[in-house]
Amino acid sequence: MLIVKRSLWGIVLLTFMAVLGACGGGGSESTGSESDSTENESSSEEGLKDVYTVASDTSFVPFEFKEDGEYVGFDIDLINAIADEVGFDIKLETTNFDGIIPGLQTGSFDMAIAGITITEDRKKTVDFSDPYYDAGLRIGVAVDNNDINGIEDLEGKTVATRLGSTSADYIKENIEGAEASQFEQLDQAYMAVENGSADAILYDAPNVAYYIQTKGKDSLKLVGDLYQAEQYGIAFAKGQDELVTKVNEALAALKENGKYDEIYEKWFGERPES
Ligand code: ARG
Repeated sequence: MLIVKRSLWGIVLLTFMAVLGACGGGGSESTGSESDSTENESSSEEGLKDVYTVASDTSFVPFEFKEDGEYVGFDIDLINAIADEVGFDIKLETTNFDGIIPGLQTGSFDMAIAGITITEDRKKTVDFSDPYYDAGLRIGVAVDNNDINGIEDLEGKTVATRLGSTSADYIKENIEGAEASQFEQLDQAYMAVENGSADAILYDAPNVAYYIQTKGKDSLKLVGDLYQAEQYGIAFAKGQDELVTKVNEALAALKENGKYDEIYEKWFGERPES
């Protein structure tokens, strides 16, 4: 009986192994490779979402600002062109500039475009696309101010800027005795110079220049040079490598096919020779 039992078990085992073997053998190659390739294909598409939450700032001319109730600007056009190119939809959320990076960190936003300067420090908490715009910092003062003609004249002065911006750090680190007067809203920073509560504004060159050509043309003027070359990048919540790659590919394609230039010229006029 015992022997029978053993051999019965043996047969059961052998059959079981044969079945396993058959699965692992004959059928496995085609099934395995088929499922592999489906997985690969779907992971490159399934890895991307249909809709991404994109954070931007409420007002940073001419990159993002409200016109007739709609957000418009260079950044808005660029991110829409990128989304079209990659094939996703955008849910735009606006917030104060200093809330953007924390919002990416907590996962409230997937990505952000807001003239965000790529810095080593920020790279610790968010990922960046390739640079999409060369910027830097510039000084604006009241039209009738003849004392401030460059960065050295800002020593000991009150310099208005935006909360959480690279210019706020620049003032603290590079201008002796200057007080960085940091505003949550950019309009308040310009207003501080216009009403005399700050001596100057130090902020992103394209923004200061644009403001002075438009709304601020009778009240403010540009002085000095371009300080601290900076580059803007699209920022991402960490852990979305595939999305970052696709966005970089789209950005390169738009630069190649002339769409980037079109958007640039719409907001800044002729592109400077580079
Ligand atoms: N480029 C500066 C920074 O990254 C200022 C950006 C301001 N952008 C804005 N949307 N307000 O700190």
